[in-house]
Amino acid sequence: MLKGRSLIEPADFSLEETDGLFALAEKIESDEQYLRESCRGKLLATLFFEPSTRTRLSFEAAMLRLGGSCLGFADPGSSSAVKGESLADTVRMAASYADAIVMRNPKEGAALLASNYSAVPVINAGDGGHHHPTQTLTDLLTIRRLRGDIKNITVGFCGDLKFGRTVHSLAKALARYEKITIIFISPEELIIPEYITRHLQKHNIEFTETRSLEEAIPQLDVLYMTRVQKERFFNEEDYIRLKDTYVLNKEKMALSKNDLIILHPLPRVNEIAVEVDGDPRAAYFKQAKYGMYVRMALLASILGVL
Ligand code: NCD
Repeated sequence: MLKGRSLIEPADFSLEETDGLFALAEKIESDEQYLRESCRGKLLATLFFEPSTRTRLSFEAAMLRLGGSCLGFADPGSSSAVKGESLADTVRMAASYADAIVMRNPKEGAALLASNYSAVPVINAGDGGHHHPTQTLTDLLTIRRLRGDIKNITVGFCGDLKFGRTVHSLAKALARYEKITIIFISPEELIIPEYITRHLQKHNIEFTETRSLEEAIPQLDVLYMTRVQKERFFNEEDYIRLKDTYVLNKEKMALSKNDLIILHPLPRVNEIAVEVDGDPRAAYFKQAKYGMYVRMALLASILGVL
């Protein structure tokens, strides 16, 4: 039962609970009327202290499609945070108005802290460079929809593996599935954090690290491209030097398997050339749509309307 539960990082839900969400998301996708008015009278607070397009809009679309309503802010400049209000106080207030809270915040650990002060479930929509569990639900659902299951695959993560929270969450979550091999592709300065590799070792997940996308791409079943996280850099020069390290283009696509799945949490900057968008292996726009269905499944579950 997910009723009343918060989601701070992917492992907060068991594999069975996660599978249940995917099955529910698939049912919602196949029958647009299913759960249509189930959240009538319920309110979702969306507190976005950092920019967002897909995550915020897909949560709002999800809640509205379920018949519920949303309130909140997309710009912390318009909230009392600018007057110096603490996160704990802001969250306490939102929890007294709404039935659930979705929050994105630049500080690692902010969502966990919020859940300690909230009387209603808190969903982490990204806490700094740490975790982004609903993006992981989106990513896993996309793999499941396109392959039929989530096992027996080699997954490549490419780009900013140091600051990319979607990478951290998905890599950790993949450790729970069978026969997963991971290849981390990044510049030396942006390698995957040790707390993730330690987790993979603990779960006997095979992984390697490389600097070369060309070398890795022929082996991959899933390629997870990411943008270099400009906002988490301390200096502009490093960002400029690293931002175009990897660009997925037609030449690199020619080296890859015919059934490769290309994922990207979006926004894309330069790391996937627009010429790749028309390739049947490009799944990133589909992925964004699955994100709405899985967020509908999540909201209906934690609000207890099933
Ligand atoms: C990601 C994020 O915010 O971490 N975007 C998203 O939610 N789809 C990825 C990113 O910003 O690069």
